[in-house]
Order: sequence, then structure tokens, then C-alpha cells
Amino acid sequence: MINDKIKEKIVLALDVEDIKEAKTLVDSLYPYVETFKVGLQLYTKYGNEVIDYILGKNSNFFLDIKLHDIPNTVEKASENVVLRGANFFNVHATGGFKMMEAARSGAIKAFEKLNKNFEENPPVILAVTMLTSISQEVMDGEFEIKTDVSEFAIRLAKLSKKAGMSGVVASSLEAKRIKEACGADFKVLCPGIRPAWSSKDDQKRAATPKFAIEQGADYLVIGRAVTKPAEGLSPIDAMKKIYDEIGEIEC
Ligand code: C5P
Repeated sequence: MINDKIKEKIVLALDVEDIKEAKTLVDSLYPYVETFKVGLQLYTKYGNEVIDYILGKNSNFFLDIKLHDIPNTVEKASENVVLRGANFFNVHATGGFKMMEAARSGAIKAFEKLNKNFEENPPVILAVTMLTSISQEVMDGEFEIKTDVSEFAIRLAKLSKKAGMSGVVASSLEAKRIKEACGADFKVLCPGIRPAWSSKDDQKRAATPKFAIEQGADYLVIGRAVTKPAEGLSPIDAMKKIYDEIGEIEC
């Protein structure tokens, strides 16, 4: 029996080069995964094919497109993203309040066209506060913004909430502070998830699934820990181990 409470938190990052590999992962993992995340790598190569495959399994589709443009363009693009079937998508909070409002307005327009009730089951629109590649050195040296990078991320999370975003993408190490600043209903999606038994790869601030949930994560982005699992494990084995680990705590 699959624990639905765990399943609804799992977002699988389909960061692969080849459509066949993506389809094989979807085929084997969809019973365990509520949402498949398609990033720019796969989307720019296989766009509609991969989207239709995911939607064909009745799974949620997250387009990790990180929109960042003038409000009018973002509104139109968001409308198209939702019309195309995305249940989750994201924007950069640094695009500003009006741009984030425009993303929401585009999603509402798509729902009107689809004759769907936005209030009942709205798409999850997430804001990326600061890319993890933007370090304090980049803030100080390149942008000449003399602000603490994690303070800035919290400020952007608050702005995202005001602009009607569903939540933010953030490290598990910041999830608690974001919930405190923005409220329990404001969603936090955490990448950089690594069970203790898996390789950290290039994630510098990785956290276990259990830790992330304890810190308040609503969604866990799981990528290579499952898609490129440790020696001797299949993706399903790795996913089951993650379920077992999360199952030990209340969620
Ligand atoms: O394979 P891994 O679990 O490291 O994949 C993490 C996923 O989360 C990737 O799709 C990556 O683009 C995304 N992500 C991240 N760090 C962020 C934001 C997104 O790793 N700060």
C-alpha cells in the first residue's frame, strides 16, 4: 500500500537527456510520485511529448520554467503553461510584485478558458527567491547589494506571498524561517534532498527527506537519489527506501 500523504509530497526531477529514459522513469515510478518536474533540459528538447506522457499517467506536471520577464509577457506565458496542463510552475521572485501578480492572473485566465474553478483547485505557482548559485560573494561583488543573502531570500518570500504566489522554492535549511515569516499555508518546495545512504553529487546544502519534512517542507524535489540510485538499487528500490524513511515520522 502506498502512503498517499508521502506521495503528495514527492516531486521527481526528470533531469535526463533522453526521452526514453524519462518515459522509463515515469512508467516505473508514477505509483509513488504525485508530481513529475520537467526542467529546461528536457522541455527544450522534447516539450509536448514528455508533457503528454506525464499527463497520460494522471500525474501532476510541474514545468520548472522559472519565468522572468515583463508582467505582460509573463501573464501570457503563464496562461499558456497552464493551458498546456501544468499543475505546478514557477517564476523568479526578483521579477517583482507586478510580474508575480501577472503570473497568477495568467493562470486564472487559463482556468476561465478551461471552464475550471480556480479557487477550488488552483495550480501551484512557486517563486524562486534566490538561486542557490547566487552566493554572498556574488551579492556583494557582482550585484553590489550589501544585504545578507538569506535575509534577502526571506524578504522575497514575503513579497511572493503578498503577490499571491502559492509558495517558494527553498533549501530545507530555510524552510522553518519561511514558514515563520509567511505562515503555515505558504508552501515550501525543497530541492537538495539526499537520504543518508545516497551520494550528495553537487548539492552543497543537502538534507535528508526526514529532516526536510521536520523543517516544514510541503514538497520534496527528488532527483538523482532516485533517478541515478546508489549501486545495487533500482529507482523503485531507492524510492521505497525514501518512503520507509519518511514513514517513520508523522507527516
Ligand atoms: O538530482 P538532484 O536531487 O540534485 O536534483 C535537484 C533538482 O532540483 C534539479 O532539478 C535542480 O534543478 C533543482 N533545484 C536545485 N536547487 C535549487 C533549485 C532547484 O537543485 N535551488
